Amino acid sequence: MFLGLDVATSATKALLIGEAGDVAGVASSAHETHTPEPLWSEQDPSDWWTAAQESIRTVLDKSDTAPEAVDVVGLTGQMHGLVLLDERGEVLRPAILWNDQRTAAECDAMRAALGKERLVQLTGNDALPGFTAPKLLWVREHEPEVYARAAQALLPKDYVRFKLTGRYATDKAGAAGTILFDLEARDWSAEVLGALDVDPGWLPPTHEGTAVTGEMTAEAADATGLAEGTPVVAGGGDQSAAAVGTGAVEEGVVSISLGTSGVVFAATGRPTIEPEGRLHAFCHAAPGTWHLMGVMLSAAGSLQWYRDTLAPETDFDDLLAPASEVVPGSDGLFFLPYLTGERTPHPDPRARGGFIGLTARHEQPHLTRAVLEGVAFGLRDNFALMQETGLARVDEARITGGGTQSALWRQIIADVLGVELATVANPEGAAYGAALLAGVGAGRWPSVQAACTETVAVTERTAPRPEPAAVYDEGYQAYRRLYPALRPIFHEEKTFEG
Ligand code: XUL
Repeated sequence: MFLGLDVATSATKALLIGEAGDVAGVASSAHETHTPEPLWSEQDPSDWWTAAQESIRTVLDKSDTAPEAVDVVGLTGQMHGLVLLDERGEVLRPAILWNDQRTAAECDAMRAALGKERLVQLTGNDALPGFTAPKLLWVREHEPEVYARAAQALLPKDYVRFKLTGRYATDKAGAAGTILFDLEARDWSAEVLGALDVDPGWLPPTHEGTAVTGEMTAEAADATGLAEGTPVVAGGGDQSAAAVGTGAVEEGVVSISLGTSGVVFAATGRPTIEPEGRLHAFCHAAPGTWHLMGVMLSAAGSLQWYRDTLAPETDFDDLLAPASEVVPGSDGLFFLPYLTGERTPHPDPRARGGFIGLTARHEQPHLTRAVLEGVAFGLRDNFALMQETGLARVDEARITGGGTQSALWRQIIADVLGVELATVANPEGAAYGAALLAGVGAGRWPSVQAACTETVAVTERTAPRPEPAAVYDEGYQAYRRLYPALRPIFHEEKTFEG
């Protein structure tokens, strides 16, 4: 059996799968996020370790699995976080997470140090506040006494790996998300590290997703209930592991995930970069491959906010049903989904959401439909960046995530994107991908691609309809003009603070 461990933001999840990829058990244990200052987002690494122990013990118990039955463990988790350790491996300060927004000045400093063009050329990415590198610079600037004691910088899941195996190691997908990484060479970039004056000795060795990075120590075996010596493979950052779980491991297969955030993910056979860095370009967890990715921050999160705020007692089916009666285009009403700022294609923490075009004729179903359509337009922004730049081939688009339960929303997205959407049931997300990577590491499958072919199934297909697609084409042209028009106002001091 193979165990996938996902050190996600809200909880750590342990998932056991059998030799056929069948799910044998799953258990989660929650952790808290702290916001000691506006824009900050931090967690205590010891909470992840506690949650990892709890979830592994629970899943073994619940599924009645003997420790020796688990052949290999695969890790995944939230990307881009910074865990700083001293030379004895003790945590120096709370981890700074992927959704922390404090490092705008350090991003500017990175661009100044390398030149934006060179930074994108080397790492595949522009400096964004969520990424790891600007966080390191922030600690150096604001907490020099912490920085002076630092000896190791790790990603969140790699702190748990250290507790499990006693080894410092990371995967290439996660490492690429630090943007201290040479995308093409698939290893740390001496040039970036040199320009930022970061000690290369602080960074762990990087491994392909299916490679073994260490074995369970006796102490960790005691703490988790797994057997001493159980191998742990590198795994991958949550987005690349989730893509393994949907089969987006070959060029041409694009995965769209409709969770709190919305992600458009395309596997690429070579390091492919959007020259302005508007798309993220990272290594994939499938060895020797890369991927492009666009992330919109509030996708199903927008609908959740809308329901919680404007129709709190209504369940989603009842809320969405009347919206199917509204004609495509919501009678000229647009929703901008930038409720938590935006990443792709507008990397702007100050972007704001809104309903634009309201008239006295609009009723609640129009607002509901406008939210569904606004999120679909946001996904199209991401999708179009890949298509228009010719960077990713789209032979098949696969959709996953909680939002896909709505047939209406799936249809709207198919119409707005103008592509057929294949629904893939992957309720366990990244943890499932991590378990498959463990299975490949164990030799159960010869490659990640082979594991996906055998285990990932399409459950439904939604084709675009020509008439709404034409209406949405026009609507999209208007939608994409709204953010640039509003941007100067979003950036006015004071007006949109808070
Ligand atoms: C990916 C990203 C998120 C985090 C948290 O770029 O920021 O997926 O990994 O889940």
